[in-house]
Amino acid sequence: MNFNQLFRKKSAEKTFTDAGAHGSLHKVLGVKDLTLFGIAAIIGAGSFSSIGSACFTGGPGVILLFMICAVACGFTALCYAEFASRVPVSGSAYTYAYVSFGELFAWIIGWALIMEYSIGNIYVAFSWSGYFCNLLEGFNIHLPAWLSINYMESHQAFTDNAAGKGLEAWSNAPQIAGLRMIFDLPAVFINVLITWLVYKGVKESRNASNTMVIVKLAIITLVIGVGIFYVDIANWTPFMPNGFTGVMAGVSGVFFAYIGFDAVSTLAEESENPQRDLPKGMIYSLVICTVIFIVLALVLTGMVSYTELNVSDPLAEIFAMKGVKWMLFIVSFAAVVAMTSVILVFQMGQPRIWMSMSRDGLLPKKFSSIHPKYKTPGFATIVTGLVVGIPIFFTDRQFVLDFTSIGTLFAFVLVCGGVLMLPKNTGEKTKGKFQLPYINGKWIVPGIIGLPALLLFLFNKEFLISVFDVNAENAAVNIPLLIFFFICVIISVLSFLKNFSLIPVLGLLSCCYLLTGMAAVNWKWFFIWFLIGLAIYFAYSFRKSKLNLSPTLSPNQRGE
Ligand code: ALA
Repeated sequence: MNFNQLFRKKSAEKTFTDAGAHGSLHKVLGVKDLTLFGIAAIIGAGSFSSIGSACFTGGPGVILLFMICAVACGFTALCYAEFASRVPVSGSAYTYAYVSFGELFAWIIGWALIMEYSIGNIYVAFSWSGYFCNLLEGFNIHLPAWLSINYMESHQAFTDNAAGKGLEAWSNAPQIAGLRMIFDLPAVFINVLITWLVYKGVKESRNASNTMVIVKLAIITLVIGVGIFYVDIANWTPFMPNGFTGVMAGVSGVFFAYIGFDAVSTLAEESENPQRDLPKGMIYSLVICTVIFIVLALVLTGMVSYTELNVSDPLAEIFAMKGVKWMLFIVSFAAVVAMTSVILVFQMGQPRIWMSMSRDGLLPKKFSSIHPKYKTPGFATIVTGLVVGIPIFFTDRQFVLDFTSIGTLFAFVLVCGGVLMLPKNTGEKTKGKFQLPYINGKWIVPGIIGLPALLLFLFNKEFLISVFDVNAENAAVNIPLLIFFFICVIISVLSFLKNFSLIPVLGLLSCCYLLTGMAAVNWKWFFIWFLIGLAIYFAYSFRKSKLNLSPTLSPNQRGE
């Protein structure tokens, strides 16, 4: 095997022609639809569920983390937008990596995106189930505990002897051959329902999604509007009860809340004018959601003490604590609607990524077959349903949350890095087409990184302690932060030597910074996942790649 072949690239033109050659999807989506799609993907389990534990560890200061994540996602969105405008076909970061980094990286990114789209949906399905059960309770319908919790959490409750639903499920579950029948039935149900909807067609899915987004925006506005009257500003002090370390501890949950703006890019082939509309859809949805998150976090931490928020349904809980019973039903309904639309968007995105990978030969041909009647990638849609549905039986919420956030951040780092590999935009701007402004980072990047270093030098360790909230002992073992500093130095040097564009560099660095908040155990699972992906690439995809056959490739594209 020629080592350089691993980095063979696909040209943007070829990517575009290939897409056209494989049967077309319905082009029905405009800016409004794409923005609503973005919001549909963003506001979900993060806003209704994981925000609670992030507020618990970070206190009101968690809004800083929402801002940091917004900055990281904003820069990344601009990079996605640049790619979407240059390579307007389905496939998201995978397709973009293929034209910039080459095949091996494209495969790795496609593999990482399974964590974002499919594994992320498992977390949302679990959270959906929690609020759905709340709704049923409102109608006096009680599902047995063993049918409304996952096996792992119930087993954990048994091991810890923790009273509650988990232990109740463990005690009452029927057994078959000694195995307790404990599973989250509503989570399985919503997955089957959405898979069916997506299989039937994008137009139907879009109509359902737009309606759900409007309902959830209206109800979130109501939650904020009512909640504001119960805010006691005394609850905002102390602002960071566990310091900045406590704020950063919520990074998985907060970042998860933002995931989704990039899903818009998987709809390129269904957009009326992808080069103009995709960037707008991504950025509009990101801005709207950032404002909502910050206000929501302030309302939550203002209504009750942050110490009360470590629950899976914090938005319902705050109203229960304040005795505002009528809001409980409304919040549960909104949560169910919000999360349904998230699952819908991701369940649409995953098959479209696989479709692109299959077109390139990296996955079997069946993954790119388009249903003759519904015009959707039918087989890939069903496989997505299985990839989301099966783990529902044997994973737990925290694991899938962490795993999704790390995989998605990794993909974002590669997208920002990929933009640096593209030819610079220094020429004329084409009307109606997004173009990332080129700002030379030669001096600015080393300046941005060098300034804090200088301050550290001037103010010594006190500065480090105040910014990163680490004491000398922890600082010595904060390996992720040290790696981050090392990356900063390398990027500064490269920016100086190669005149890197500022925006993608800032995206790359801010995503790398968020990765420093991930626990060591997440990295372990991530690397296992990564190795499995590499094994499949070398055993199948490398040999079957269409680039092996293409006589028209230039030596550069072949990686020679
Ligand atoms: N951002 C999406 C959610 O919070 C994934 O559910």
